[in-house]
Amino acid sequence: MQPRNGPSGNGRARVLELRDVSAGYGAIQILHGVSLHVDEGEIVSVIGPNGAGKSTTFKVIMGLITHLGGDVVYLGHDLVGQRPDRILGFGLAYVPQGRVVFTQMTVRENLEMGAYLERSKARIAEAMDYVFTLFPRLGERPGQLAGSMSGGEQQMLAMGRGLMMRPKMMMLDEPSLGLSPRLVDEVFDKTVELARGGLTVMLVEQNAARALEISDRGYVLELGRNRYEGSGQALLDDPEVRTMYLGGGMRAA
Ligand SMILES: Nc1ncnc2c1ncn2[C@@H]1O[C@H](COP(=O)(O)OP(=O)(O)O)[C@@H](O)[C@H]1O
Ligand SMILES: [Mg+2]
Repeated sequence: MQPRNGPSGNGRARVLELRDVSAGYGAIQILHGVSLHVDEGEIVSVIGPNGAGKSTTFKVIMGLITHLGGDVVYLGHDLVGQRPDRILGFGLAYVPQGRVVFTQMTVRENLEMGAYLERSKARIAEAMDYVFTLFPRLGERPGQLAGSMSGGEQQMLAMGRGLMMRPKMMMLDEPSLGLSPRLVDEVFDKTVELARGGLTVMLVEQNAARALEISDRGYVLELGRNRYEGSGQALLDDPEVRTMYLGGGMRAA
């Protein structure tokens, strides 16, 4: 047995671990014993068909839905039964699906909302500088209303808001959904850049092949259960995974 928060096989520390997690919405059970882990500095993708339970997995980690069984451990903290703001305070950021920004607020105000747990004005200013360095386009327009920004800019803003508490790990739900190809590239490039900078990333994507290309490892969920797992490359090369989850056929070179 691995110690709870000890080093894993790859020599990296365990950041997040789900063991046999079941969860749902009220009486409706969606996850049936999902297990997965994310180690320090990794990008780990969760893919699978629509309705597989990918977003639900993020929601149970964040304490937003009914937990029915199993362990959720983040950096040694048992997350089961914790409130979402406490989980955020442990250094785990969650960027939900759908570019959720406050449209009637400015870029700066949106980022400040991401740091609502932080009391120190100096630390908030520091975090904002850090986000503006990562996303220069946000830094160029701190006073712009979020609702008037492009889809890609809103996604960057949602990610920037998640970074305001200087998390150790970020969970991104469908960050590329509905973006133009150029902006999809930008979102993936930014994700890689964040990981190189030391952030641990868990990524859910419809764009499964692109996600696996930048991932150390991946999990395939189906009907709320683990189906496949492996390195990003192994999953990309697996004929069954390719046919069933990556749009079939050969991958483009
Ligand atoms: N708020 C909700 N109430 C009831 N069922 C839900 C709710 N949200 C999602 N579901 C159901 O949970 C299942 C998994 O959904 P979800 O986790 O969003 O899938 P994915 O993100 O993999 O596409 C689906 O059958 C979906 O209909
Ligand atoms: Mg989803």
